Amino acid sequence: MVKPSNIITAELEKLRSEIRRHNELYYQKDKPEISDAEYDRLFDRLLEIEAEFPEMVTEDSPSQTVGADRIEKFAAVDHRIPMLSLQKVTSFEQFLDFDRRVRDGLAVEAEIQYTTEPKLDGLAVELVYRRGKFVLGSTRGDGSTGENITENLTTLSSIPASLSSQTTKRYPLLEIRGEVVIHKKDFAQFNQQLIEIGQEPMANPRNGAAGSLRQLDSNITKERPLVFYAYGISDILLDSITKQSEAAALLRSENFRLPEPAAVLNDPEAINRQFDELTKSRDALDFEIDGMVIKVNSFDQQKQLGRISRAPRWAVAWKFEAELAETTLEDVEFSVGRTGVVTPVAILEPVKVGGVMVSRASLHNEDELQSLGVAVGDRVVIRRAGDVIPEVVRLAGKSKPRSNTIKFPAECPSCQTEIRRLEGEAAYRCSNSACPAQLEGKLSYFASKAGMDIDGMGGKIASQLIERGLISSLADLYFLTHDQLLTLDLMADKRAQKLLAAIDRSRSSSLPKIIYALGIDGVGETVARLVAETFATLDSLMEASLEQLVDIDGIGEVLAESINSYFATEDNRVLLRRMREGGVLFPHFTKSYSGDLFSGKRFVITGTLSQSRTYFKNLIESHGGKVSSSISTKIDFLLCGQKAGSKLEKARKLDVEIIEEEDFLARIG
Ligand code: IVH
Repeated sequence: MVKPSNIITAELEKLRSEIRRHNELYYQKDKPEISDAEYDRLFDRLLEIEAEFPEMVTEDSPSQTVGADRIEKFAAVDHRIPMLSLQKVTSFEQFLDFDRRVRDGLAVEAEIQYTTEPKLDGLAVELVYRRGKFVLGSTRGDGSTGENITENLTTLSSIPASLSSQTTKRYPLLEIRGEVVIHKKDFAQFNQQLIEIGQEPMANPRNGAAGSLRQLDSNITKERPLVFYAYGISDILLDSITKQSEAAALLRSENFRLPEPAAVLNDPEAINRQFDELTKSRDALDFEIDGMVIKVNSFDQQKQLGRISRAPRWAVAWKFEAELAETTLEDVEFSVGRTGVVTPVAILEPVKVGGVMVSRASLHNEDELQSLGVAVGDRVVIRRAGDVIPEVVRLAGKSKPRSNTIKFPAECPSCQTEIRRLEGEAAYRCSNSACPAQLEGKLSYFASKAGMDIDGMGGKIASQLIERGLISSLADLYFLTHDQLLTLDLMADKRAQKLLAAIDRSRSSSLPKIIYALGIDGVGETVARLVAETFATLDSLMEASLEQLVDIDGIGEVLAESINSYFATEDNRVLLRRMREGGVLFPHFTKSYSGDLFSGKRFVITGTLSQSRTYFKNLIESHGGKVSSSISTKIDFLLCGQKAGSKLEKARKLDVEIIEEEDFLARIG
């Protein structure tokens, strides 16, 4: 083993005390002395040394403390096996279709054995037990990478700190998955606590659980009534366990709570009855549920069935019917979206539906509004189905005396331009391209996670930037200065710095993300990726003919026309030119196929490269690879620029393949 030199030991100590001091200045005193980037540099160096000399990691190192020390964000955790979502069905017929697909997939006619259990409405987490000890807990995140919330999860008494010696011997590594919830009976009290400490009460137990788990101080989490329910193990190739029901038995024997009532059933009719019973007993359960999960019991069969993109073929969530509630219509607002569509929104006396307090609901469009025939003061029935925006479904009672039924306005509520309803369309649109409400919608969409991913650019900031004339086109974002940001409400130095850093990072967004962010009619994430893969650069896409676009598999005439006319419009060409002037890189995009060049390969990037790290990270990811921050034996390649330091040395020691930029670019062609 390499021994740390005295110099390293001294550096480590110095780094730790410096970081602690900056933490205190930032979090407790609100008086930071260094920029985020400088802080990150210190922190990265600490992580680097600790990765090299793991025996030097102490419990109180800033790298190990989630709590008050580093509140900023949680470290990323890659799930060894992705955490998937579930396909949904909402009727027995649809369940039978699922069952048919399962039997077709397995080429069996006989009945399949399924397990059934409630679908808990909480926050999905993964617990890793290594040699019997709980060592890592994470949120689901995007399914492949979540957040490290170990510290917080250790405060839950329903999560055993260690497993029995028998289980430890059989499974030195055990990854357990489940859901963290707040029991219904604890929820009201929990909200009361929040109100007492001056915080907003949570809308439902699920939000309560999520908010509590993502606290940066685990002492807060400890006070929250959180309960973990285990519903499975991630790796279905455990030697002697061959069924979901056996995995459940193992978990139960290790003192985990499991979602009940659970059953093992072969007959679809029995599953139907089980669903009816669960629907009836729903209210009496300790926790909120939103349906029943049905899983193929045999792990062998699960493996044979595999998965379709993000969901397994061997399980399904049978969701409860959408919930209805009655309330009073207090007002109607007309909101203008990014495409100029004007949508009537019902402002309601707050009412609980499906476990969530609802105070706004969609009235869709003019036709809908007319056929509902509602007036302010009327009683209305609203419906909420899962995460879908709630909607008004019918008039339940007219108010007395009754005001006039609601009429659609003739002008845009934001810019007062006359609004028009195009032939064959249900929606009214504001056609003013400079309409502030549209720009606000465009800006939020542009900055969203799937787009340029500009953290901190929420609706409130967007509307202020527009109101104060700091932004009149999306490209203006790239010319904002620190001083300009400081003029906004609630914008302090640190926050402005962070927002500018986020804007800066977005300059190296990948081409599909940029195309998505532009908000071209009909172009979502999939189409954006498709055109980026086809044309590779923005310039070729801009020059693409209608024929070339229609030729792409998956793009029809309407969509091709929409893309073509977007890039033919002078205003949009000016926008893209100004984005380039503002430093947006529009990187070349290379198609990634399954069986990618770097599929499953892990990279670390070091040294100075010709473009930003994000640029190279995007390239690696678009070829199926992953990027980590420190060198270990798990790393396949070190992408190495000029002036590389200790990472290069370490890569050499550990025999990690080193690729220089030129070589890397040559490999991906
Ligand atoms: S099994 C391969 N069982 O539902 C997916 N999931 O849509 C295996 N969930 O976020 C999931 N209760 O956390 C399973 N009894 C249960 C569940 C359950 C809730 C959540 C899960 C995930 C979501 C999937």
